[in-house]
Amino acid sequence: MNEHTLSMRLERVAANVPADARLADIGSDHAYLPVALMHRGAISAAVAGEVATTPFHAAQRTVRDNGLEQHISVRLASGLAAIEPGDGITAISLCGMGGETIRDILDSGKTHLSGQERLILQPNGGEQPLRQWLMDNGYPILHEELLQENRFYYEIIVAERAEPVVYSAEQLYFGPLQMQTRSPVFLAKWQRMLRQKHKTLASFEQARQRVPEEKMQEVARQARWITALLA
Ligand SMILES: C[S@@+](CC[C@H](N)C(=O)[O-])C[C@H]1O[C@@H](n2cnc3c(N)ncnc32)[C@H](O)[C@@H]1O
Repeated sequence: MNEHTLSMRLERVAANVPADARLADIGSDHAYLPVALMHRGAISAAVAGEVATTPFHAAQRTVRDNGLEQHISVRLASGLAAIEPGDGITAISLCGMGGETIRDILDSGKTHLSGQERLILQPNGGEQPLRQWLMDNGYPILHEELLQENRFYYEIIVAERAEPVVYSAEQLYFGPLQMQTRSPVFLAKWQRMLRQKHKTLASFEQARQRVPEEKMQEVARQARWITALLA
């Protein structure tokens, strides 16, 4: 992967960035996403935010090597603190981090959100708490995608601030739109997850003394939900 050839995962994220957006890519690492989008003329400006110095320098290098310093600001900052009021950001991407981390970044950076931005989120696990945050903060999910690349399943969640929405516990767990669509990749993911839950429960049985009852019950409930979903 580089700024010319994105991974399939980042290609799908790119496809959900609105045309001409002013994009803040938070946790940008090499800044491949904003640089690729700028090269394609798909966005008008970008901020690439990074909390760690090594990826921050990598992002600076990619932007400089591509002559895009006038269009992409690379900033060393934690989370949404990379966004400045004058940026006029219309879309925020947060990709390749755990869902809890993305949730915490959104929650602690609320003052940097105008409420007008589209959120394009690609969590690596932890989708349920992230969807919970979106529901609790008035961001209905507009679009969800699930793709498989290199044996891993990746979810993309697109949300915008609008009328409050209420999702059930199962919708927060599986994704409300994916539950409706039931794509082949979605069913394959949950078949794999069900096998994993059964293995986990079997290992819990063997180590019963050391596993809190609450944890056992949680995994058992998830296995029941998945079984019902696949039935
Ligand atoms: C695995 S990389 C993903 C890079 C790229 N977004 C992608 O999807 O390919 C995650 C990046 O997020 C950065 N990161 C983690 N927490 C962050 C935070 N609070 N603010 C900004 N960047 C953060 C890490 O330094 C790392 O470079």
